[in-house]
Amino acid sequence: KKIALVTGGYSGEAVISYKSAKTVEANINKDNYEVYVIDIAKDGWWYTADGQAKIAVNKADFSINIAGKCIQFDCILFCIHGTPGEDGKLQGYFDMLQIPYTSCDAATSAITFNKRYTVAVAAFSGISVAKSMHLFKHTAYSDQEILQQLKLPVFVKPNNGGSSIGMSKVNNTHELLPAIEKAFKEDNQVLVEEYIAGREFTIGVFKNKEGNIIVLPITEVIAEKEFFDYEAKYEGKSREITPAQIPFNWQQQLEATAKNVYAILNCNGIVRMDFIWNEAVQKPYLLEVNTVPGQSEASIVPQQVKAMGWSLQEFYTQLIEAAFN
Ligand code: DAL
Ligand code: MG
Repeated sequence: KKIALVTGGYSGEAVISYKSAKTVEANINKDNYEVYVIDIAKDGWWYTADGQAKIAVNKADFSINIAGKCIQFDCILFCIHGTPGEDGKLQGYFDMLQIPYTSCDAATSAITFNKRYTVAVAAFSGISVAKSMHLFKHTAYSDQEILQQLKLPVFVKPNNGGSSIGMSKVNNTHELLPAIEKAFKEDNQVLVEEYIAGREFTIGVFKNKEGNIIVLPITEVIAEKEFFDYEAKYEGKSREITPAQIPFNWQQQLEATAKNVYAILNCNGIVRMDFIWNEAVQKPYLLEVNTVPGQSEASIVPQQVKAMGWSLQEFYTQLIEAAFN
C-alpha cells in the first residue's frame, strides 16, 4: 500500500511537524507500506525523493508524477500540527477525494482545534471543564467585565492553536489586557480560562484496527516553569512521568474520562488529551484535545506507546490499518 505521510503545515508548529514526521517515517513497516513524505507548505505541496528536485503534488487528486509514472495514495498519515492538518481543512479535502486517512474527521478536527468548542461539547456531555470566556477581536471587552465572571489566576490562550504559543498565565489584574493582546497576535479569538488547581496529566487514546478505543499509559507533566509552555514542551524544561505514579482510583477515573471524551467527540486515530486532576473534588477537568499530537522521539505519545510494551512500528501499523475500516 502507498502511504502519504503529510507534514509541515502553515502555522508556527510546522517545525514540530517535521520532527514528528521523522519519527513516524522511521517507524513504518517498509515491508508492508511504501511511504512518501509530502510537505504541505505555504509555498506549495511537495514531494522530494532522496537528493532529487522537489515535485509538486497535483491538487486535483493528490497524486505525484515520478519519472512519467502517476502515483496515487491508498492512505494519508497525518503529521501536521496546526492548520491545515489539525483543524479539519485537509480532512475535508481528503473526504472529497475519498482517500482514507488516520486522523479525526473534518467535523471533529474543526471542533477540537477550537478550544472553546471542545470544552463546550465536553461540558454538555457531563465532562468537567474550567469556567471560561470566549473573546473576539472585533468585540469590546474590559478587564473588569472579565474579572466579574472569572476568578484570578486565569490562563489566556489563542483559541485556535497549539504548543502553548501566545499563551500566558495571569496572576494580577494589570497583566490581563497585555496577555489578551499577546494572544490576539496569534488568533482573532481568545479564550480566558480559570486556573484549576491540581496535577496535570496527558493521555493518548487511539482506535485499533478492530475499532476498540485503547487508552495508553497516563503521563504526568511537571513543568519547572509556571506552566507547560513552549519552552517547557520543547526545550526540556519539564518532567514527564510515564506511567504516572497515582492512586488506582485516579487512574481509573482518568482512563474512563479519556475514553468517554474520545467517544463523545467521535475521534479517530491517535489523540492526546490534557487534564487537571483536582484533589478537592477528586475529579479530572478536561483542558483540551490534540488530534495530531507531537510524535518526535522526545514527545509524549511515543513514550506512552513504549510504556505499554508496544513497538512504534506495531503502533503505526494499527493506526494505518484502522484508517481502512
Ligand atoms: N500541539 C503539539 C504538537 C502537541 O499537542 O503535542
Ligand atoms: Mg495543544
